[in-house]
Amino acid sequence: MASRNKNKNTKLKLERHSEQDEDNEAPQIEKGDKITAELSPDQDMTTSSQHYFGSTEDDFSISIIENMKEEYGLFVWPSSIILAEYVWQQRTRFSGANVVELGAGTSLPGLVAAKVGADVTLTDDSSRSEVLDNMRRVCSINNLKCRVLGLTWGVWDAPVFSLRPNIILGADVLYDTSAFDDLFATVTFLLQKCPDSVFITTYHNRSGHHLIEFLMDKWCLKCTKLVDGFSFMPSHKTSKLSGNIQLAEIVLDNSGSK
Ligand SMILES: C[S@@+](CC[C@H](N)C(=O)[O-])C[C@H]1O[C@@H](n2cnc3c(N)ncnc32)[C@H](O)[C@@H]1O
Repeated sequence: MASRNKNKNTKLKLERHSEQDEDNEAPQIEKGDKITAELSPDQDMTTSSQHYFGSTEDDFSISIIENMKEEYGLFVWPSSIILAEYVWQQRTRFSGANVVELGAGTSLPGLVAAKVGADVTLTDDSSRSEVLDNMRRVCSINNLKCRVLGLTWGVWDAPVFSLRPNIILGADVLYDTSAFDDLFATVTFLLQKCPDSVFITTYHNRSGHHLIEFLMDKWCLKCTKLVDGFSFMPSHKTSKLSGNIQLAEIVLDNSGSK
């Protein structure tokens, strides 16, 4: 299925920021103007954060429930803040789009997409019921109707076959190199379902970039846009964010298809 043709432009772009690889950082819960904390009955630290978009009459905010004791899927990671801002700035592109967010966790980008008029399916690991439950809660408190679906990368459960996104989102889903191949398998499967579809992802530029490049080649994908995630962020949202975060737009590379 996959072409082995090298895409030299993509290779160069992916190597551009390779000198600043770094580990996953502690999540930052500083983005909202308001953060409240309370102890739930089981003593887990549940917080809520408020995330604002726009500055005119069409502005809005999204409330997110996070859990300080859980890992990964119950924090709003910096990559998510950046991808959500990108969705907001590209809102005309998202209005009316069919969007699937992979590894959505607290789901901020997908919720912004829904807010600007996209038809959104939020997905996360099928085995993470607490994450999927939290996704339903954040949809509810924001009064947004999104589908919530267990979707484990590289696993082909029946509901996956009904998805036809023209935009796939993924914030900080490239952090565990052992999962990269499964992620790209799922991304490629979904990209093949809809012509001109795109995978938009934000990720920390870490040592996995050579693997990303290799797997994009393996799965016949190419990068059409690669930017510093901070380049389009309003300054008031960057003051407490850190890291070397990139935003990439990835599509099927049909140039070498067999
Ligand atoms: C670092 S968190 C990012 C969460 C959210 N996108 C954000 O940026 O705030 C990675 C997310 O990927 C999900 N995930 C990890 N492995 C997965 C897999 N094999 N299939 C589906 N989701 C997975 C985790 O449950 C988690 O929600």
